[in-house]
Amino acid sequence: MKRLGILISGRGSNFEAIADSVAAGRIDAAIAVVISNRPEARGLAVARERGLNAVCIPSKGLDREVYDRLLAEELKRNSVDLVCLAGFMRLLSAGFIREFPLRILNIHPSLLPAFPGLDAQHQALEHGVKVGGCTVHFVDECLDSGPILVQTAVPVLNDDTVEALSARILKEEHRIYTEAINLVLAGNFRIEGRRVVFT
Ligand code: GAR
Repeated sequence: MKRLGILISGRGSNFEAIADSVAAGRIDAAIAVVISNRPEARGLAVARERGLNAVCIPSKGLDREVYDRLLAEELKRNSVDLVCLAGFMRLLSAGFIREFPLRILNIHPSLLPAFPGLDAQHQALEHGVKVGGCTVHFVDECLDSGPILVQTAVPVLNDDTVEALSARILKEEHRIYTEAINLVLAGNFRIEGRRVVFT
């Protein structure tokens, strides 16, 4: 059975959605390890409550190369096949990415390439877009970049606040992350330039 490594920094609702899918048999894989770079992350406590292997590797004060090496070692120790970033708010070094070729996914709360980086939903409202959404993509060395696996759109409503729009998007995030993991685990795709072509 394939083994997932989930990286978080905070609330961990995407991690929980993945864990629910695994528990319900909607994802045919096991969660081998949940790693947080922040000791206070709510998702870390949730992972422990669920009886999962939950590990904190604090990133504070470490330079990127050193941190990423610790991260890669922990993932390898747990024989992880697929790394899922779920609100993991760090850029990964080229060295780390090379260790897991086409084996790192990220979820982002916008229709990339619009609004990469922090506070994507706020950026979307500020820009005045009428449609928002979320994206699951392979991770490369750039921020919220890399070939796109799944995207879905939601409307932006006249009276939307950041909270209301974020909640509408988050519901879709929870759904498409499971879909994307299943697509990658099935392996029926090839990469043509930036395009992920399903076969
Ligand atoms: C999610 O909305 C995720 O898309 C976003 O952080 C939130 C984490 O929530 N990620 C990014 O903005 C990455 N650039 P969660 O901890 O409840 O899953």
